[in-house]
Amino acid sequence: MDLTNMPRHVAIIMDGNGRWARKRLMNRVYGHEAGIESVRQVISCCLKWNIPYLTLYAFSKENWARPQSEISALWQLLISFIHKDLPSLIENGVRVIHWGDKEGLPPEVCHAIDEALRETASGKKLHVHVALNYGGRHEITRAARMIGEEILKGNIRPEDVTLDLFASFLFSSGVPDPDLVIRTSGEHRISNFLLWQIAYSEIYVTDVYWPDFREDEFKKAIESYQQRERRFGRTSEQIQQERCVSAL
Ligand code: FPP
Repeated sequence: MDLTNMPRHVAIIMDGNGRWARKRLMNRVYGHEAGIESVRQVISCCLKWNIPYLTLYAFSKENWARPQSEISALWQLLISFIHKDLPSLIENGVRVIHWGDKEGLPPEVCHAIDEALRETASGKKLHVHVALNYGGRHEITRAARMIGEEILKGNIRPEDVTLDLFASFLFSSGVPDPDLVIRTSGEHRISNFLLWQIAYSEIYVTDVYWPDFREDEFKKAIESYQQRERRFGRTSEQIQQERCVSAL
C-alpha cells in the first residue's frame, strides 16, 4: 500500500451483518455487535494511515422498515459504542459528525449523538461522519427546500444557484467528495447513499461481510483504489501527459 497515495475521504456501506450472524446460527443483532468491532478497526486504520475523512452508513431512511426489535437493538449498540469509545475518540483527535435527520430518532439516541458531537468538536485528525436516519434523495430534497426558502427571503437569486452553492446546503458542505466508496457483502448497489457526493468516486465491492471487514480487507480496498486511473471525464492520454508535465 502506497501511503503517499491515500484517499482523503472513504465512505462505507457496512452491509452483511445479518448474513454473517445467520451463517453462525445466531440472531442478526449478534452480527451488528460484531460489526461495531469493524467500525473500531476502520477508524483506527484511518488514524494510522492519515485518512482525514470517513463516512459510515449506519442507518438509512429505508432501515425503518426493519423489525422494531432490531431497530431498538441498533440504537442500544450505537449508544453503548458512544459511551464506551468516546474517551478514546477524543484522545485520538476524532471528530464525530452526524449526517441525516435528527427528527424521528429516539430522544436517547439524539442525546448520545449530541454528546458525541459536543465532546469531539475539537478533533482535527479524523472526521467521522455517521450517516444515521440518512437518505441521499432526502438530503438533496432538503437542500433544494432550504435554497427555495433563501430565494423567497431574497437572500439568493435563482441564477446564484451553482453546483458549489447547492453543495454548500448538503450535510457534506466543506468536505471533499469521497474518493473511495466501499460496499461489503457483495451487493452492487448504492442504496440511496451520498447520491450527490459520489459522482466521481471509485467504487469497491467486496464479498466479505461487514463483521469480517478488518484491517487486511480495508488494505485490499485501498490497494485496489490505488490501481485505478481517475480521469474525471478526461482521457487517459491527458492524464499521462499531465503526469509527465508535473514530473518535470
Ligand atoms: C447492514 O447489515 C448493517 C446495518 C444496517 C447497520 C450497521 C450498523 C452498525 C455496524 C453499528 C452502528 C454503527 C456505528 C457507526 C457505531 P444488514 O443487517 O443489512 O445485513 P444483511 O444484509 O446480511 O441482512
